[in-house]
Amino acid sequence: EVWNPNGKYRVVSTKSMPGTRWINLLIQQDCRLEICTEKKTILSVEDIIALIGDKCDGVIGQVRGKAFSNMAVGYNNVDVNAANKYGVAVGNTPGVLTETTAELAASLTLAAARRIVEADEFMRAGLYDGWLPHLFVGNLLKGQTVGVIGAGRIGSAYARMMANGETPVTWKRASSMDEVLQEADIISLHPILDKTTYHLVNKERLSKMKKEAILINCSRGPVIDEVALVDHLKENPMFRVGLDVFEDEPNMKPGLAELKNAIVVPHIASASKWTREGMATLAALNVLGKIKGYPVWFDANR
Ligand code: DGY
Repeated sequence: EVWNPNGKYRVVSTKSMPGTRWINLLIQQDCRLEICTEKKTILSVEDIIALIGDKCDGVIGQVRGKAFSNMAVGYNNVDVNAANKYGVAVGNTPGVLTETTAELAASLTLAAARRIVEADEFMRAGLYDGWLPHLFVGNLLKGQTVGVIGAGRIGSAYARMMANGETPVTWKRASSMDEVLQEADIISLHPILDKTTYHLVNKERLSKMKKEAILINCSRGPVIDEVALVDHLKENPMFRVGLDVFEDEPNMKPGLAELKNAIVVPHIASASKWTREGMATLAALNVLGKIKGYPVWFDANR
């Protein structure tokens, strides 16, 4: 799909994005915008190289010229050193997804604590035949300790949301992570993914957590060793997880899908209409920044 075919600057978007604000912004600033309509969710490197072609002023990408504007706050999918080497500016879209992502982490926390998904499946399967004292008994959040690993924008927003109720929030930073894991009833992961956070939650750390703890991950899949997690969930049926992200996304490690003590959703933490339109707009502004010579927002440069 091509907008403003005679525009001076060629900008490629590897996906269609929500809303029209981002499209208007680009075409009003003399860009020829090409939106890839390929139905495949993940484009290969070859697909992307073919899309970019010989001369391109900016690329807006979501999964993997002169500017590469990532429609995401996380940028572990971008080789920043290589981009710097070739003079390609990299941008990301922080801020607009903070509350939306924190809200999903809070939703998963509540859903896991009260076993909402299991109960919904039970109801739909026609298994409910009357109130029972033991039916889907879960955890009361009031009085529980919440540990946040990675107290950046999203982790702090999650902590604020949880503290708005009567749940005390324990503030501990990575230096005392093991202590957080031992003490918390609920642990929510919000670090960035890099070499230091790969498999941050591994077999050893899982074994330090309370047997009835709830673990939430809305950051990046490889922060958890997912094979170790599956084993841990099997051995500890009262331990629950809420996962928005997976180690080999879009796949789940064998066994995870069958476990009742896991809630799994397809990387939807930033999926509110307001946020996705905001991300698209920021991604467009970042491309224009490089083209027009004003600042490109990129967390890693600040
Ligand atoms: C991000 O922004 O990093 C998310 O994972 C996509 O919403």
